[in-house]
Amino acid sequence: MQGKPLPIHGDGSNVRSYLYCEDVAEAFEVVLHKGEVGHVYNIGTKKERRVIDVAKDICRIFSMDAEKSIKFVENRPFNDQRYFLDDQKLKNLGWSERTTWEEGLKKTMEWYINNPDWWGDVTGALLPHPRMLMMPGGIERHFDGSEEDKSASYVSSNTRMLVPPTKSIGSPRKPSLKFLIYGRTGWIGGLLGKICEKEGIAFEYGRGRLEDRSSLMADMQNVKPTHVFNAAGVTGRPNVDWCESHKTETIRTNVAGTLTLADVCREHGLLMMNFATGCIFEYDAAHPEGSGIGYKEEDKPNFTGSFYSKTKAMVEELLKEYDNVCTLRVRMPISSDLNNPRNFITKISRYSKVVNIPNSVTVLDELLPISIEMAKRNLRGIWNFTNPGVVSHNEILEMYKQYIDPGFKWVNFTLEEQAKVIVAPRSNNEMDASKLKNEFPELLSIKESLVKYVFELNKKNIAA
Ligand SMILES: NC(=O)c1ccc[n+]([C@@H]2O[C@H](COP(=O)([O-])OP(=O)(O)OC[C@H]3O[C@@H](n4cnc5c(N)ncnc54)[C@H](OP(=O)(O)O)[C@@H]3O)[C@@H](O)[C@H]2O)c1
Repeated sequence: MQGKPLPIHGDGSNVRSYLYCEDVAEAFEVVLHKGEVGHVYNIGTKKERRVIDVAKDICRIFSMDAEKSIKFVENRPFNDQRYFLDDQKLKNLGWSERTTWEEGLKKTMEWYINNPDWWGDVTGALLPHPRMLMMPGGIERHFDGSEEDKSASYVSSNTRMLVPPTKSIGSPRKPSLKFLIYGRTGWIGGLLGKICEKEGIAFEYGRGRLEDRSSLMADMQNVKPTHVFNAAGVTGRPNVDWCESHKTETIRTNVAGTLTLADVCREHGLLMMNFATGCIFEYDAAHPEGSGIGYKEEDKPNFTGSFYSKTKAMVEELLKEYDNVCTLRVRMPISSDLNNPRNFITKISRYSKVVNIPNSVTVLDELLPISIEMAKRNLRGIWNFTNPGVVSHNEILEMYKQYIDPGFKWVNFTLEEQAKVIVAPRSNNEMDASKLKNEFPELLSIKESLVKYVFELNKKNIAA
């Protein structure tokens, strides 16, 4: 219409199934009224068309010379050659495609010509390889304390990360930092807030619910954080077995919610520190118990025995596509608060029977401050967030006996016996913490950390 060139990625031989929008709308209606709950229906057409033919047809309608107007540009990476959906199941409900290609294309063109105000400026669609579709009036936010335009608080552009680089590491107070933390009422979220207070870091807790995008957007605008910490998630009460009988609730927060927050952060150019889980692995032939061969960051999850773990593994996989996310694989967290029922030590010291298996665990008192340092260093990607090495249930309880209660006794049972008193199987594994250790050479091995951050401290408290 404007005489601009019509760019085509590649040679235009890619094939797509084009369906007129009113036929699609009718398909939705048919599915709504006749479809079966829980079923999936493909909406498509078997009449496929090459991109080049579509472009030629458009030129014809506008009386343009296709030879002159069409410009072939470099293909998109991984541009699919063809998608082909079988729509028979939908047809069985009584739906059929009613609009011919020629008629549909003509109607579409006429609609665009007659309704220029509806869409506004859509010339961006003529840009080959659009990387940054700036919304009208959009600005980029700067994190050096200045903003190009204070009236607009966030960007719609999401192609560049604008998290500030850390100039000096470990300085006690950085007034430019402002953390937004999700999980105010939770164990890890609560501890993070306390550490921020201690370290003099400005922070606010998020008010939004993870699955409610607009409430997260409001948080971003109100708080204007430099970093976001996600310690929100459903973990189940009294334990993860809850997730087995509350699958949609689990998906809502742990899948839809976590992904929504990551996406909102990306849209705002923010790094999200995500407290994830290492309970997505189990010992196998390549990583046998007691071998010292731990799962690495790049290993694919192999434990989906519980619904909780299954959703966490799926989300981890999807979050890999977000370059603004730092995934921290926490395992069987332990803290110095031995009264907290979530603490792994508190749990196993209260069980009537415990299994005895070596596992990698996370000593929160040592590792949560490290997560803050990781945010300052702008680290991303997946991290095994555990102390190096493994510790077994019996080794922990031996320490408990030695430091806390000399008269403490416990009874072991086997995994098979345990299976009778829990709903879903639990993950047992060793994680390879060398990536974290390389970044933080001061990181203590699990047994040293337990002594320093948990048992010595509680021993002193008891003696005091
Ligand atoms: N504790 C563990 O054993 C363990 C181990 C490995 C990984 N993790 C992971 O670390 C994260 C934090 O664990 P935690 O032990 O601190 O959990 P927690 O004590 O159960 O706290 C969860 C927090 O998430 C919030 N929350 C739940 N659903 C939410 C939603 N839809 N929107 C916003 N907030 C929501 C809760 O707030 P409300 O009370 O308002 O719902 C609560 O503040 C979780 O993702 C968990 O999977 C925990």
